Amino acid sequence: MRYTKGVSVWPVGLVGGLMVEKPLMDEHGIVKGFNSAWKPERPFPIDMAGFAINLNLFLDRPQAAFSLTVPGGFQESELLHHLVSSVRDLEPLASNCTKVYVWHTRTEPPKLREEIMYRKKGMPSDAGMEI
Ligand SMILES: *[C@@H]1O[C@H](CO)[C@@H](O)[C@H](O)[C@H]1NC(C)=O
Repeated sequence: MRYTKGVSVWPVGLVGGLMVEKPLMDEHGIVKGFNSAWKPERPFPIDMAGFAINLNLFLDRPQAAFSLTVPGGFQESELLHHLVSSVRDLEPLASNCTKVYVWHTRTEPPKLREEIMYRKKGMPSDAGMEI
């Protein structure tokens, strides 16, 4: 995380109704999207726990802030769209986003509704992951 030049990203366990919500990589190691099941139409469909921002970049962009007027789930996109122009600019960490080091735990059992849907389609969100 400390080597983040702009905005870095990684998989997060137990969030968005999935075992793992994660960046999807292309064959060149560039982020091409996310596997998110909850509001996947968001420009950056990730959780607050899934990214880091270089402090100098953040201080250079005072317009990058949370908003009181965006719909639920859009704070991440509201913040990030001022800092990077597309998901391709995101810097993948956690060994090309193949490992889970961050868990979005709560003091209640995890809700995995979307995971059940993904598994019915034969697409478990943690396939091939080290968790
Ligand atoms: C990430 O993927 C790229 C492209 O496939 C590769 O060149 C690089 O070595 C990988 N990095 C790690 C840490 O696995």
